[in-house]
Amino acid sequence: MRTVVRVTERVVETPSTVTLRFPYPGPAAPGQFVMIWFPGDDELPMSLSYTEGASKGVTIKAMGTTSRNVQELAVGATVGLRGPYGNRFDLSARRVLVVGGGSGAAVLAPAAERAAAQGTRVTVALGATQSAELLFRHRFEEMGARVEVATDDGSEGTKGFVTSVAERLLTAERFDAVWTCGPEIMMQKVAVAAGALGVPVFCSVERHMKCALGLCDACALGPYHVCVDGPVFPAERLLPLAEFGRSHRDPSGRRVPFGAR
Ligand SMILES: Cc1cc2nc3c(=O)[nH]c(=O)nc-3n(C[C@H](O)[C@H](O)[C@H](O)COP(=O)(O)OP(=O)(O)OC[C@H]3O[C@@H](n4cnc5c(N)ncnc54)[C@H](O)[C@@H]3O)c2cc1C
Ligand code: FES
Repeated sequence: MRTVVRVTERVVETPSTVTLRFPYPGPAAPGQFVMIWFPGDDELPMSLSYTEGASKGVTIKAMGTTSRNVQELAVGATVGLRGPYGNRFDLSARRVLVVGGGSGAAVLAPAAERAAAQGTRVTVALGATQSAELLFRHRFEEMGARVEVATDDGSEGTKGFVTSVAERLLTAERFDAVWTCGPEIMMQKVAVAAGALGVPVFCSVERHMKCALGLCDACALGPYHVCVDGPVFPAERLLPLAEFGRSHRDPSGRRVPFGAR
């Protein structure tokens, strides 16, 4: 589906993230993304942070120019959308550990919400740089999930990386699956820790995208096109790839280590 809609709601979630809601009546599944653009700027892939009903949403973290411009769109602004694209989280597990780092919670929240509504026991390990940046913490609590937090500066919860919270939960409790989204180095650590315990891990990954249709190769990750084979991958497909957790490709296809601009 390709359409132009007006923003109906703008919510400042944390100092660096904003949610835009808009009417988008077609079906969408947790894990899927849309390509979003507005006149005069580039198109960006954004996961749907709200997938239910006729009002969908995206939650944008301020990174570079385009994401800041999208964040600043006001209620009533016109945006172009195409999608939804990509695969979805498998919601069949009965006990799920959700591990979100920073804005990664945007793609995990609708999956957790739908799973909790169908009776899945959801535990969330939520990490951010500081307390104020814990995205969708109350949304996770309202759906009945148990939430454990970690902050880099120790302003709330465990001081340090969310991976230590995830590892503690994984050794103390039984889970049927782990869903994770955030920095790739974080997902890699979670995948190794859970994999050692035999718990399947599903990672939502990001790459540069152009067509979102599996045609242009911009989103190549090893033998996969993230736009059609993902963005949700079982960790056992990602862990053998030299790029996973280490590098991505820039708009020209050049390999760039994570952390470099
Ligand atoms: C499947 C998927 C889901 C995503 N979901 C979210 C989400 O829910 N929330 C969120 O905040 N971010 C999400 N992202 C990341 C987002 O698409 C951008 O990469 C990020 O916002 C940085 O863009 P920028 O313009 O601010 O960065 P800049 O570094 O300023 O970008 C430089 C240039 O590259 C373009 N560009 C940047 N990233 C991409 C990209 N991935 N594909 C195509 N062009 C790009 C910009 O438009 C600009 O022209 C997702 C990415 C993918 C692939
Ligand atoms: S964005 Fe073109 S193949 Fe994935």
